[in-house]
Amino acid sequence: MIGHFITFEGIEGSGKTTQAKKAEEYLKTLGHLVLRTYEPGATRVGELIRQILLEKNDNPILLHPITELLLFSADRTQHLREVILPALVQGITVLCDRYIDSTTAYQGGGRGVNFELISQVHKTATLGIYPTRTYLLDLPVEVGLQRISERGNALDRLEEEDVEFHKRIRDCFLYIAHQNPQRVMVIDATQSEDEIALIIQNDLRELCQRED
Ligand code: TYD
Repeated sequence: MIGHFITFEGIEGSGKTTQAKKAEEYLKTLGHLVLRTYEPGATRVGELIRQILLEKNDNPILLHPITELLLFSADRTQHLREVILPALVQGITVLCDRYIDSTTAYQGGGRGVNFELISQVHKTATLGIYPTRTYLLDLPVEVGLQRISERGNALDRLEEEDVEFHKRIRDCFLYIAHQNPQRVMVIDATQSEDEIALIIQNDLRELCQRED
């Protein structure tokens, strides 16, 4: 049996990582084998690529938007073949913090890379393996950016971009959801962590029953 492939998407500060952890705990209580992972940087090659993409320093690397697209996609290729696919074929449920929709939203919506090119690159990088369910944690950009500034960590190359950049990303995520209503569930991420976790749990339970 092939495992479920579930992704968590959203702008900065939307709470994806918290919700992926909660979903992992919940699925384990149902007896599922679960692997929680993330992009970029979940493999050794990915760690190196992540340094180029997100390194925080006073002299950030200048990347052409297409270079950025290809680096995120290179990370994905390696991640898919080394981590995601081997888990799925063993029947393990994979929960992934960001995947293709982040590329479409950030490099397409944010940076303006051609969507057709992005979709071609996705085909190669993913071998056509797309999630069966995506939780899009949606909230106003100002709220997300406020949350990350309160964390007090230095901001990376992408977090540092202006509000308009992040608004284009949010709009693009919502557009992706609109285009893929069967796969993408939009969740109002201004709700409490527990409320959001409950919505996801109810959906996961239904998803597992449907496909078991
Ligand atoms: P990260 O530090 O992993 O944290 P978070 O996912 O919680 O934001 O940041 C990853 C950054 O990379 C984030 O700003 C989104 C960006 N990103 C892209 O621009 N394109 C992509 O394809 C992916 C996977 C991420």
